[in-house]
Amino acid sequence: MTHGYHKYPAKFIPPLAARLIEKYTQPDALVVDPFMGSGTTLVEAMLYGRRTVGVDINPIAWLITKAKTTPINPETLRLGLTNLYDALPVNSEGQLISPLLGKVPKLEHERIDYWFIEPNRSELEVVLFLIKQEPNQSVRYFMLCGFSNILKNCSRWLMRSSKPTVDKNKKIPPLVPTLKRQLKYMEKRNALFWGKMKGKAYSVVVHRGDARELPVLKNSIDLIVTSPPYVTSYEYADLHQLGNIILGFTTDLRELRKSFIGSIQAEENQADLLSPLAQETVQALETVDKSEGRGALTYFQSMQQCLQEMKNKLRPGGRTCIVIGNTALKKVPIPNAEIFVETGLAQGLQLEELIKREIPSKILPQTRDPKTGRFTSAAKAKALAYPEEYIIVLKK
Ligand SMILES: C[S@@+](CC[C@H](N)C(=O)[O-])C[C@H]1O[C@@H](n2cnc3c(N)ncnc32)[C@H](O)[C@@H]1O
Repeated sequence: MTHGYHKYPAKFIPPLAARLIEKYTQPDALVVDPFMGSGTTLVEAMLYGRRTVGVDINPIAWLITKAKTTPINPETLRLGLTNLYDALPVNSEGQLISPLLGKVPKLEHERIDYWFIEPNRSELEVVLFLIKQEPNQSVRYFMLCGFSNILKNCSRWLMRSSKPTVDKNKKIPPLVPTLKRQLKYMEKRNALFWGKMKGKAYSVVVHRGDARELPVLKNSIDLIVTSPPYVTSYEYADLHQLGNIILGFTTDLRELRKSFIGSIQAEENQADLLSPLAQETVQALETVDKSEGRGALTYFQSMQQCLQEMKNKLRPGGRTCIVIGNTALKKVPIPNAEIFVETGLAQGLQLEELIKREIPSKILPQTRDPKTGRFTSAAKAKALAYPEEYIIVLKK
């Protein structure tokens, strides 16, 4: 299916979302993911004939999910791709030979100059210019999604790093052949998705916005399936800076970070914490590190507001399924699962199920550096951050 269109940190495994959708909803139910990321829940909901709405604050998440939830007639797609490829001839080294080089609108940003070297730096401008000429919006989003996914690989970015780091020894692949490979892979996945969805009516809304303001009516959601961000873990704005800047979603990363829950720069909040365990955790962290304590407070306040919004928009009898792991920061345990359960109960939801599952080792997320407490590559870390995760099922 379209799940592999784009890399995304802490992605759901599709069968997990599928199982919850199948178990808890009937055809035509409304399934929502307030932190949709790369849109796993939405794609699975579509495959099961459910109506679906997804929200994410990250513009790149919006683009990826738009592309992944849009089955395109393979012939229409082929036509668009052929036009694009015809306009992108390359030499034997895979370098673009085009009269458009240097003649199209410039991409001006210090981050682009920092991450890209020639010839890819100039080729970016031509590729983006040509993709923007594609008249069919679905085909254009498809191409932009593929383009976004190869940016790290075609720059000095150290691959598999959970933080933006320069790889000094990288053999950077040529842009155009890498893009063509990516689009070819996606084209096959689109054909499969098209085949599955052909002739079926579907309803999908992909919204760029805040999980605290879900764009659906009160009492309307049958099922929420989501995995929220973690406290000061991935800086999604930084990890997706290449796509967000090059595709013109932002020029100011600092500003973008503020709206991300779990970011070090998340905007402060006023709500009183309903979960005693959340209060204790914040206090324990504050004694070790004041700023981490403040970060955790902002995080739990924001997540409490999200849970309240989810509850308001659920129909009576509807359910919220939250997939989350417990973790630790500066050696202070962060029992996310228990805290979310306590918060949900305090807001008047019932705990229907709490499932603990081991994360298969090959999809283990990054672990934390014992000194800084920040995420680090699995190879370096001594302890695993959250080798198991919980599925919390709360019912209204
Ligand atoms: C763990 S990821 C979700 C991954 C997703 N389940 C998937 O399969 O790709 C958490 C998401 O929360 C998003 N997020 C952070 N703050 C948000 C906010 N205030 N409102 C909505 N989404 C937010 C991040 O951009 C990120 O995509």
